[in-house]
Amino acid sequence: MSNGPGPERPLARADWRQMLVIGIIASALGIAAGLLIDWFPVAASREAKPIDTLWDVLIICSVPVFVLVVTVVLFSVWKFRMRPGEELMDGPPIHGNTRLEIVWTAIPAIMLVALCTYAFLVLRDVERADAGQPVQVRVVGQQFAWTFYYKVGGKEVSAPELYVPINRQVEFTLQSKDVLHDFWVPSFRIKKDAVPGIDVKYRVTPNRIGNYSIVCAELCGLGHSTMRGTAHVLTQAAYDAQLKKLAAGPAKAPPAQGGGPDGKALFVSSGCNGCHTLKDAGASGTTGPDLDNVLKGKDPAFIKESITDPNKEIAQGYSGGIMPGNFGTTLSGAEIDALVKYLSDVTKGG
Ligand code: CUA
Repeated sequence: MSNGPGPERPLARADWRQMLVIGIIASALGIAAGLLIDWFPVAASREAKPIDTLWDVLIICSVPVFVLVVTVVLFSVWKFRMRPGEELMDGPPIHGNTRLEIVWTAIPAIMLVALCTYAFLVLRDVERADAGQPVQVRVVGQQFAWTFYYKVGGKEVSAPELYVPINRQVEFTLQSKDVLHDFWVPSFRIKKDAVPGIDVKYRVTPNRIGNYSIVCAELCGLGHSTMRGTAHVLTQAAYDAQLKKLAAGPAKAPPAQGGGPDGKALFVSSGCNGCHTLKDAGASGTTGPDLDNVLKGKDPAFIKESITDPNKEIAQGYSGGIMPGNFGTTLSGAEIDALVKYLSDVTKGG
């Protein structure tokens, strides 16, 4: 027996046309499946359409690449597998086949450049600013709630939910009080990180009346999955009425006694309402315990400890480590006292 290269295996075992036909049929099925799957929730912004079209084009281009590679691999395993008696044989050498190398370099390169160019044009299109002043909404994230600030007249009012008018460009200014969050309304299709210390902006033009979910899309702590909210796309009239209501709300509340910080306002501005239920503040969060229940009859010392050292005692049915433990440092002593007094007062009664 010689030690040199063995004889070649028979080359023309397979019909390449057969492989091509299998590949084309599989690609067509793959593209059809990719386009039929409902990947996204209902589209509610002007930007959603070009983004969804881009997605479809990516499916149409990438599915055949995947399917053809898999087809060639499986077809080769099937047709070119070693038969008994071929142990010492080898396939024909293709090293140095310049034409093949040019083809398999050029095709992906052309596809990548074309898709990147198209994606860039879509990005430029969806980031385009309309003429005129956009509706401004300041979006503040914190563990684990969103608060939205609107300009009404000269002052700013806040709400735990997002209200935007239909068919007007809205500019969000994203901010964070603690860690990275990511403001995402899947129906609007656009999302960006809220980064502590800087203002991140993006524009969106809602074009469909309805309520859509808001999701935090950046892992931000144990309560990340509960950091949800609702975006309300309203008619201009309903939007104006909503802002008027928000602006009137706090003004009607009795002023804080003794001129100190307003406990009820702190309850909202600190984001407590995002996670807790408290009837007096109109809060209905379910991430943390229902304060109307767990604080009923508790003394102020217990309430204070629950705010500044939330993991010391955990209400039955809830887990430790979810409520931020830094309220003792982010709120001043006077603010904590006002919050404790407020919570103590509103949970006292039966
Ligand atoms: Cu905030 Cu995840």
